[in-house]
This record gives sequence, structure tokens and C-alpha cells, in this order.
Amino acid sequence: MIYRNGLLSFGEDHLFPLQALAAQKSDPFYIYDLSGMRQRARALKATLPGLEIHYAMKANGANRILRTFRSEGTGIDTVSGGEIRHALAVGFPPGEIIFSGVGKTRTELELAIGLGIKQINVESPQELQRIIALARALGKKPRCAFRVNPDVDAKTHPYITTGFRENKFGMGDHFLPELRLILASAGDAVELVGLTLHIGSQLQDLAPLEDAIRKTLPIFYSLQEEGHPMRTFDVGGGLGIRYQEEHTLPPRDLALIEEYGALLRRALKGFAGQVLCEPGRILVGSCGTLVGEVQYLKETPDRNFVILNTGMHHLLRPALYQAHHRILPLVLHPDRQIKRYDVVGPICESSDVLGKERELQEIFQGEFLAIADAGAYGYSMATLYNEHPLPKEFFWEEQVLSDENGADLSALLDSARKLRDFDLSP
Ligand SMILES: Cc1ncc(COP(=O)(O)O)c(C=O)c1O
Repeated sequence: MIYRNGLLSFGEDHLFPLQALAAQKSDPFYIYDLSGMRQRARALKATLPGLEIHYAMKANGANRILRTFRSEGTGIDTVSGGEIRHALAVGFPPGEIIFSGVGKTRTELELAIGLGIKQINVESPQELQRIIALARALGKKPRCAFRVNPDVDAKTHPYITTGFRENKFGMGDHFLPELRLILASAGDAVELVGLTLHIGSQLQDLAPLEDAIRKTLPIFYSLQEEGHPMRTFDVGGGLGIRYQEEHTLPPRDLALIEEYGALLRRALKGFAGQVLCEPGRILVGSCGTLVGEVQYLKETPDRNFVILNTGMHHLLRPALYQAHHRILPLVLHPDRQIKRYDVVGPICESSDVLGKERELQEIFQGEFLAIADAGAYGYSMATLYNEHPLPKEFFWEEQVLSDENGADLSALLDSARKLRDFDLSP
């Protein structure tokens, strides 16, 4: 998303001015660039021969996005029975579904075991015992991987770090004796096929991930030597995006994907098994934007508030972990003065702030603002709190604008041709 002729223009390989859409849809909406998502999935796939991507659908479960990744040959990483059923419904076969999560219920495990999914990522000894009991009852032999907690500091926000000893996720090596005993008494009820780790999200510095892989590989080899059919090593997700920075073409995400590939090639040199990963944010984060309309401006002695028709109910990240999203006017007016604003939503909570103390060109009622890099953990965390409707979702691919059902809405962009001589060609 970049400015062209002063118009905020959505997309990467093809651009269109968001104002053309916003002016006709005054309700808040998300828009996603499916070509950008494909490009990232392809770039990731190319970093390591045989790398198996399992898209972490919690980042964004829009059907069109799931089908896009499916058509790129990725599998899927799920964290609930709901996500497993959703993945099946859009066409992912059980053999391409991974089930992660620290609190899997009996019903969810029954579903996963009954389906014979690719792998259940086990997070505690009690979970392993539950899986064994259910496997026996169902007469199935599920494939399991142990989620290791490698005790590294991912140097990200405390709410999204997961591989440190204080976190609830995964199992430190002190769990290994107990896990070995449980496996020994399980006979052939389950298969231990691999290890998995996920040290946190929004990683910018990849060194802790390399550290985690190096710490975990010896555990893999020792379990293999003990006779387990170990074959998968799942490095999780966690690649970050640049929320603070303006977009560039080619996108910076591709540079981080390259760096990640080099890390995997280095850290897993000589590893003969299957390498899996579970990326979410890097594939979708910077390919999505939320657009809201300015309802009111409100000046107090302390603050200038811009009150939008979208807020924490559509994009929770700023309220949940003080996340930064760039806020951009759809039309630039260089002649206007710059003012400092708090950009807030309509929800009855003081934490309903999308951006605090932002320097923006003077804003007027009825204009639109874009919240950038909202493709990951945006719509998937949206709620009906205060009973506002959920935002609409639009999709942009190969110069076609469409809705969630695939209906072609490109005619809406005809007005774009009248906007400041915008050129729709690439
Ligand atoms: C187990 C697991 N895998 C993958 C992911 C995806 O992480 P990201 O979106 O940071 O790539 C998460 C996110 O929380 C996770 O918990």
C-alpha cells in the first residue's frame, strides 16, 4: 500500500485507490491483497527444498484466504476443533492438518484422532495421556509431536512470547523423563513422529529462533535413537512484519523471509527429516488494511479525538498489546496543517484507541482513514462487543476486486479513473 498521485493505493503488483471503494461503502471494511499473500507463500516455500508450510489460520481465517493458500499447496495449522472443521470445509484434507494448542479438550482430540490428521502437537504429559486413552478407545493410532519449550527469550512483546520457561506453552526438557515413561507404557497406541517449537510471534530478530532450533535438535535425535519414528521437525511460526514503516516495493517481508530461509538452511544442515513451519502473520499481515469513516472530531483541552466507525471490536491489537498500526488518510492534502490526534473507535471502553498522539494532516468528518498492516490477528480477533456488525471483507487479486463470495465488484473502481487521473494499470 503506497501513495500514488496523493491517493492511498492498495496492492503490490496492481494498485487501486482505496478512496474509490471507501466512497461507496461507508461501513468499515477490511481489504486483502491475495496476490501479495501468494507471493509470500511462494517465497517462503522456495527458501528450503521440501519445506512444508502449514498456514496458522488463527491469523486470518477468511475462506478466500484459506483457499488461496490451499491452491498454493500449503497445509494448515489449527488450534481448536472449530478451526479443524473450518479447514476441512474449505478443502484441506486431514493429512494436511496440524493441531496445536495448550488446552485441547476431549471432544477436540476425538475429532482430530478420528480424522487421522497429520500431527497433534502435544503440550503436556496429561495431554499425551488423554490422547493415548482416546486412541485406544477409538482404535486409532494418532501421530504426535512434542512441543518443546526451548527456554529462549524471543525479545518480542511479553504477551506474544511463548518459548520462555515462564510461558504456559510447550514442555521444557525436565518433562522428558515423564514423557518417556508415558510413551513406554502406551505400547503402540500412538506414534511419536516429531518435535515442534514456536517461541513467539512478531519476531524481528531471528537469532533466538536459531538458538531454539539448535537446542531442540539433540532431543529429536535422542528420541529417534530410542526407536521412535521421528521424522518431522516443526519450527513454528513467528516471523514479524514492519508495523512502523512505510511499505516499499518489493515488500520488506520478502527480505525477512530470505533471512529466515538462510537461518533454516544453516541450523538444519544435515537434517534428513521433514521440516514444517506454521507461519501466520508474515503471510497475511501487511496484505490487509482496515478502513473506517470519520464520524466526529472532538476537541478537548488535552486532546483532539478522531472518532471512527471502527475500533477495538474490529482490530483488537492496539488495545490488547499496545500494538502500533500506521494510520493513513486515503487522500493526501499537502496544503492542510498537521495536527496531533488520538484516533479512537465507538466502543464504550477507554482502551478503544487505534492510535495515540498521531501527527496527521487535518482531518474532517466524513473522510476515511486506513489502518495499515491489519491482515493478521485483525478480523480473526474481531468481536460483536457492543453489537456493532462485523466489518465487510474485500479481496484484490489480478486487478479484480471481489467480496467474500467471489462476486466481482470491479465496476466499483470505475470511479477510480476520475480520481486525480489515477492510472489503474500496474
Ligand atoms: C503454535 C503456533 N504456531 C504458529 C503461530 C503463528 O504465529 P505467527 O502468526 O506469529 O507466525 C502461533 C501464533 O500464536 C502459534 O501459537
